[in-house]
Amino acid sequence: MKLIVRPSKALKGCVTVPGDKSISHRTLILGAMAEGETIARNWLNAGVTERMVDCIRALGIEVKVDPTGPGRATLTVHGRGLYGFTSPSRPLFCGGSATTMRLLMGLLATQPFTATLDGHEGLRRRPMERIAQPLRQMGAVVNTTDGHAPITITGGRLAALDYQLPVASAQLQTSLLLAALGAEGQMRLRQPGPARDHTLRMLQGMGAEINEVDGVITFNPERFTLKPLNFTISGDMSAAAFLLVAGLIVPESKVEIEGVNTNYTRTGLLEVLQKMGGQIVTSTEHLEAGEPMANISVSTSELHGTEVGGEVVVRMIDEFPIFVVAALQACGKTLVCEATELRAKESDRIQVVVEEFGKLGANIVAHPDGFEIDGPQLLTGTTVQSRRDHRLAMSLAVAGLVARGETIVEDAEELQESFPGFVETLQTLGAEVEWAG
Ligand code: S3P
Repeated sequence: MKLIVRPSKALKGCVTVPGDKSISHRTLILGAMAEGETIARNWLNAGVTERMVDCIRALGIEVKVDPTGPGRATLTVHGRGLYGFTSPSRPLFCGGSATTMRLLMGLLATQPFTATLDGHEGLRRRPMERIAQPLRQMGAVVNTTDGHAPITITGGRLAALDYQLPVASAQLQTSLLLAALGAEGQMRLRQPGPARDHTLRMLQGMGAEINEVDGVITFNPERFTLKPLNFTISGDMSAAAFLLVAGLIVPESKVEIEGVNTNYTRTGLLEVLQKMGGQIVTSTEHLEAGEPMANISVSTSELHGTEVGGEVVVRMIDEFPIFVVAALQACGKTLVCEATELRAKESDRIQVVVEEFGKLGANIVAHPDGFEIDGPQLLTGTTVQSRRDHRLAMSLAVAGLVARGETIVEDAEELQESFPGFVETLQTLGAEVEWAG
């Protein structure tokens, strides 16, 4: 499907976004490993989480999804404990969701049966050996296809590890923490940077003995039973990011987003935009089930270029496609470095931003570990492609709000993978955006 976007006047209003994607995945998989009924409101009901639901059901667990609005549902999982899973009768298909595949690898490593994980072409290109290798060290039999999916895992009794993570990846960290639930001994994970810590917080909420000091996670799983959860999931900062940047760059805008997760490991974009001159204010911050959440308001701002590198990169790892849009409107040079991981996402996010924003007239210079933009740059609407990357689709749409003429985003339905309701939310704010056949 195509998305048609036209230059828009002031965006105004107060909206919410669907529940956080990472927390939604974790609620489902940890809820299945817990004993009893887990209930989560504002759970993200989107393409990526549907894949996880299918896989958890294929492992014999009852899951109920009651839709409550675009991209939202109340989730109920009937967990049967760590050994309540049954052997799946077919390969577990993860679609394009790397989180689904990588988290399931950790769960399957604990199970006394063999299962195969697969996904569509885009997912088959993404690196899986970084998870497979430590799981083998713990005692699981993991066969990848040249380091990629399809992957076959035979799990069982595992031994805990003292392990230095080669990359600051929350998916790797989470996969190993899930595997630790079926392991003997104390697990120690040494992280090279502040990857998102939702798993640690959720495990603490479920009664686990786990903590993090100076980037080192210590977990004593020792045969305890995970307690089920009943809570409301805060809004996804990575979805709010599109609306925040839109509010900053469309003239005379004032946009408020209520109930967004403001966990420090996720607020890198906010800090960078503020440093660039963005008027962004957070209010009514409070904790909900161990996670901080707040309302965020933005007003149109004169942005200036900046440098992004080091530890903030991982705290805004999913936000670079939309950050490009802000940098293109900012005055002066923006340089992104130490972000090689962007090449291993849903697409090679350095290459595709150069190519697709290039069609709108943008000049972005690629570096092996990042990119460079000299702004502000005039954008001219034309036909662009989602490249089957949900975040690129939404970023191109936001760019279309300030481009001259009409922007058409092809294969834009991909955005349903993480933010169903994106178009309707922008329309509520007054944006000129609509679906076409
Ligand atoms: C995620 C971690 C990040 C992020 C992804 C979700 C998670 O990936 O890009 O969208 O839920 O743990 P990495 O851990 O590979 O950085």
